[in-house]
Amino acid sequence: MKGELKYEGKGKQLYASDSADELIQVFKDDATAFDGIKHDVIAGKGALNCAISSFFFEKLHEAGIGTHYVRKEGAVDMRVKALDMIPVEVVVRNVAAGSICKRLGFEEGMELKWPLTEFFYKSDELHDPMIAIEHAELFGWGTREELEAMRATALKVNEVMTKLLADVGIRLVDYKLEFGRTADGAMVLGDEITPDGCRLWDIETGRKLDKDVFRRDLGGLSEVYHEVANRLGIKI
Ligand code: TMP
Ligand code: ASP
Repeated sequence: MKGELKYEGKGKQLYASDSADELIQVFKDDATAFDGIKHDVIAGKGALNCAISSFFFEKLHEAGIGTHYVRKEGAVDMRVKALDMIPVEVVVRNVAAGSICKRLGFEEGMELKWPLTEFFYKSDELHDPMIAIEHAELFGWGTREELEAMRATALKVNEVMTKLLADVGIRLVDYKLEFGRTADGAMVLGDEITPDGCRLWDIETGRKLDKDVFRRDLGGLSEVYHEVANRLGIKI
């Protein structure tokens, strides 16, 4: 049972539910890149992302990591706890790719000696600029404790996800997480964990199994998302 539409982003909608502190997160078929400049609708993408994200949230819960996930309620519907979102994205990188290569002149594929965490201010208008924890603290986006807790959780997520994916022949190159506060003030992982917000490379061949295939026109998005789901044993 979905109520009023509360929020709409590029890839998801949030609806009121029958419970005041829970929402229904609906995964759309839209694919966007470059802050929405590139856009397409890919039939079945919403269902793939809802299933893949549900799988990862369940595994993180089993590992003792708090998330907004309550349960999957339909092909594209996920029941989540309502969060007061922190407008800071946490990126964890195991291998250099994407913006860090542009910024620092690295070759794509360079292994990092240990996982790197980076923070970005969530703003399409400003193209998600990179920030330090000091900015988030000064401008009131989160306390230092919250930002440090986000970093620590993001690194725990890395351990769990790296292992799950390596077991099915996939290298977790990098990913983006978002966090928020529940009604009782607890900080938990929100948003989604899907191949839209991760870089996933086949360990043997280096083949890209994530949204870079759409960003860079490297082939069918739905085919590679299916490949990720199939390998993880996720039924769509
Ligand atoms: P980047 O290389 O563009 O900084 O992205 C790092 C990872 O974070 C990559 O897997 C894509 C993901 N990401 C998003 O999903 N949304 C965003 O807005 C940004 C900046 C990154
Ligand atoms: N998620 C952002 C967008 O849709 C950036 C990206 O994934 O390339 O524009």
